[in-house]
Amino acid sequence: MKVLSIVGARPQFVKCAPVSRELRRVHEEVLVHTGQHYDYLLSEVFFRDLGIPAPDYHLEIGSGSHGVQTGRMLGAIEEVIGKEEPDIVLVYGDTNSTLAGALAAAKMHVPVAHVEAGLRSFDRRMPEEVNRVLTDHASDLLFCPTETAVANLAAEGITRGVHLTGDVMVDALQENLALAKERATVDLPATGYFLATVHRASNTDDPVALRAIMAAFALLEAPVIFPAHPRTRKKFAEYGIAPAANVSVVEPLPYFDMLAALAGARAVLTDSGGVQKEAYILKVPCVTLRENTEWVETIEDGWNVLVGADADRIVLAAGKANGAHRRHDARFGDGHAAARMAAIISAFEP
Ligand code: UD1
Repeated sequence: MKVLSIVGARPQFVKCAPVSRELRRVHEEVLVHTGQHYDYLLSEVFFRDLGIPAPDYHLEIGSGSHGVQTGRMLGAIEEVIGKEEPDIVLVYGDTNSTLAGALAAAKMHVPVAHVEAGLRSFDRRMPEEVNRVLTDHASDLLFCPTETAVANLAAEGITRGVHLTGDVMVDALQENLALAKERATVDLPATGYFLATVHRASNTDDPVALRAIMAAFALLEAPVIFPAHPRTRKKFAEYGIAPAANVSVVEPLPYFDMLAALAGARAVLTDSGGVQKEAYILKVPCVTLRENTEWVETIEDGWNVLVGADADRIVLAAGKANGAHRRHDARFGDGHAAARMAAIISAFEP
């Protein structure tokens, strides 16, 4: 089959690496990069380190408001689908690139497969939640990372084409962890540290929230390594926020450096979805700077706690974060999700 895969933002590059390799064993893949992420450290470095094939199409859409960005992608992807006439379009996760790909394909009557289907935060103010819900409802094959995701889809009346495959981020992590420890070049304090990432609009675009988070980091009793997304850096400048002496704001980390930094951290403080999961798999306590999460398993098993952007709750949770946690299971799959997806696509009949 001819599979047209659409990626555009950092977490999608990580997810597509194992899937692309499995797909190419049996299918023809055409890879489209929307250009949603264009900085070297958010995009190209992942293709290099993870050995992802060069995109066949680079749409160079770049940044913009949600409507402008998604709209530009929609038109450009439609053109590629028209030219390539794929048998199926594969989209990943919950970004504007995901929605644009799914919508363009559905309108052209091309079947859609969604990697990381069924995730819900039940918070429609998150742009990602809107992207997920709409993408799932436009999809013919829904690859769910967890049983919770399967149940979420069933609650919305979606049962056809739903497959519990496990999470491809587990595939990527298992494949790369040893390599990451060997190849990482990131400088980490030998005496222990917290790792932090903040990029979600609800935290970065609200000066009160971002100030509260940074005030909390200043009170933590260990160095904080903070690889900052470019938008977060811009907001520091805009709001006049200067990080405290114990907080090292560094450039976004390549995948190997990020895995190594995470594996060695006392705890991670983050508003990312993927990092919550990676922390669980690596048995690193996680303090999530949000009021909700799609990855409820990490909370249920005691590895993750939701604290929002509340300085007191952040400091308290970080102080309590230690290795004394309860359950740990293969909640996100066995590391063979990508192979399962390739096989399901092979058997798919529209
Ligand atoms: C996007 C996804 C988010 C995902 C994240 C992963 C949406 C709605 N959000 O958020 O779900 O968790 O990717 O990192 O799709 N910018 C740069 N360089 C870049 C890209 C962006 O400087 O290469 C800056 C620009 O100022 C831009 C801002 O970041 O306006 C936001 O970028 P955008 O593509 O809107 O979403 P992300 O915040 O990266």
